[in-house]
Amino acid sequence: ERASSSLYRFPLLPVRGIPLMNHIANSWDTIWAFRPDPSDILIATPQSRKVYLYKSELICVPGTLGTTWTQEIVDLLLHNGDADACKRAPTPERSPFLEIVSPPPILSGIDLMKNMDPPRIITHLPFQLVPPAFWENKCKTIYVARNAKDNMVSYYHFDCMNKTQPEPGPWEGYISKFMRGELAWGSWYDHVKGYWKEREKRNILYLFYEDMKENPRREVERIMNYLDLSLSDEVISRIAELTSFEIMKENPMANYSCIPTHVFDNSVSPFMRKGQVGDWRNHFTPEQSKMFAEDYDKKMKDVNIPFRTLI
Ligand code: A3P
Repeated sequence: ERASSSLYRFPLLPVRGIPLMNHIANSWDTIWAFRPDPSDILIATPQSRKVYLYKSELICVPGTLGTTWTQEIVDLLLHNGDADACKRAPTPERSPFLEIVSPPPILSGIDLMKNMDPPRIITHLPFQLVPPAFWENKCKTIYVARNAKDNMVSYYHFDCMNKTQPEPGPWEGYISKFMRGELAWGSWYDHVKGYWKEREKRNILYLFYEDMKENPRREVERIMNYLDLSLSDEVISRIAELTSFEIMKENPMANYSCIPTHVFDNSVSPFMRKGQVGDWRNHFTPEQSKMFAEDYDKKMKDVNIPFRTLI
C-alpha cells in the first residue's frame, strides 16, 4: 500500500540536455561518479528500458529493444548455459540498472551492485552520459539497437504499462515526441549514433535486434566471442533456445512478472509483448510512415547504420 502510494509517473528533467525521469536526474552526481570494476559489462540500449553492467563489461541496450533478452543471454553465457543458476533472481537483480535509483519497490541499481561480485550489468544512458570510469576501466560494452519504428511501438506499449514512466499520450503525438527526442532517455537517433561512432575506438559490440531474431544462435556466439568465453556447440544452441521469446515469456525470472501490478500493469500490455520484427506495420498509417521516413533520412544522413525494419 505504502509502496503504491509513493509511486507516480515521474516527470522528465534534463541532464546535459537529455530528458531523464526526475528521480534519476536528482541522483545524477552519484550515478556519474560510479566506478565500475574493470570486469563489469555494460549493456546499453536506446530509449529507455534499461542499462545494465556486468563485470568489466558494459552492455548497452536501447530501451524496448532487447535489453532483457541480451541480459539473459549474457547471464547464461557467464553460467555455461545453466538455466537453474540463471533463475536465482529476477532480471533487474541479476543485472542491475546503473541509473535506476529506486522508485519503490525496485531497488537502486547502485545499491544492488555494491553487494554483487562483478561482472554486473548496467544501462539505457546515451553514450555521453555513461560515467567516464567505464571507459577508463575499459569495460566491455554491448550495445543493442532496434529499428526506430519497432523501437517506438514497443516503447509506447511499455510507457502505457509502466506506471513510473511519463504518460505516453495518444499514438499520433507519441510519434512527434519520439522524433523530437522528448521521451525519457532522449533522442533515439542520437543514442544509436552516439555508440555507433564510438564503437571501434571503445571496442563496443554493436548488435541489432533484427539480427538476433533472424539467427539467434549466430548472435549468441558473437556475444560469447566478444566476452572471451568458449562454450561447446551444444551449450550455445541451448542458450539460443532458452532465450527464445516463447521460453523467456514463461520464465518468471526473466519476464518481469516480479514487478507488482501497480508498477508494471501487464493487463494494459504484457512486458513480454510480441517480440517481433515489423510490428510497426500494425501501428503506423501510410501517411505517418511517409512523414517519419522523410524526417528519419534527414536525421540519419551522417551515418550508415544498417537498420532493417523487416526480416
Ligand atoms: P515488444 O514490445 O516489441 O514485444 P527491453 O528488454 O529493452 O525493455 O525490450 C523489450 C522488448 O524486447 C519487447 O518488445 C519484448 O517483447 C522484447 N523481448 C524480450 N525478450 C525477447 C526475446 N527473448 N526475443 C525477442 N524479443 C524479446
